[in-house]
Amino acid sequence: MIRPRGGPALPACVAALRQVHEADGYPAVWPRDPIRFLTPSRTHGAWVAESAAGITAHGALCGADDVAPAAGELAAAVGVPEDRLLVIARLFVVPAARRTGTGRALLTHLVAEARAANAHPVLDVVAGSTPAVTLYESAGWRRITTLKATWTDATGANPALHYYVAPA
Ligand SMILES: CC(C)(COP(=O)(O)OP(=O)(O)OC[C@H]1O[C@@H](n2cnc3c(N)ncnc32)[C@H](O)[C@@H]1OP(=O)(O)O)[C@@H](O)C(=O)NCCC(=O)NCCS
Repeated sequence: MIRPRGGPALPACVAALRQVHEADGYPAVWPRDPIRFLTPSRTHGAWVAESAAGITAHGALCGADDVAPAAGELAAAVGVPEDRLLVIARLFVVPAARRTGTGRALLTHLVAEARAANAHPVLDVVAGSTPAVTLYESAGWRRITTLKATWTDATGANPALHYYVAPA
């Protein structure tokens, strides 16, 4: 079941994020304030997938500041002003719930929420994140550019980030 996250679910979402960080290194560096990480600037909304076991997945929609280095190029690619972009961010599925369609279902839900807000969905992803890159490309997302991240990962490197726009 996919439902709006709501404030009370945030601690459970942080616990789920911790599992993902330990399993996959996402996020690359554990944030000093994980609640703030899950509520990026200009958050439009956030949704979770839930099973009897608890929260299994999380995703948010936020303003284009989250993809600032490529926002102009992404907006030009879809032919809308930057303020009509919504970024799919903080998308993850706990390891125990993987490969059951949860990630794809939540991605589809987030796209529908963005379109309901009359916005065009975009996102960025670490180039080496094969499961996520495969998910987006299998769903028809179009890669627009690849840029070095402005942040550093646990090894001190600036990873390459792929930037995508949703299929029309
Ligand atoms: C990426 C992620 C959200 C996918 O979640 P999921 O629930 O396992 O994905 P689904 O079961 O819906 O799989 C959908 C498709 O994604 C691709 N995919 C998912 N996991 C994959 C893997 N390990 N290797 C290759 N492709 C994979 C496949 O195309 C898959 O379709 P298929 O199962 O029919 O082959 C999950 O692996 C995750 O949370 N990763 C860590 C966090 C992360 O990288 N988030 C993205 C930040 S931009």
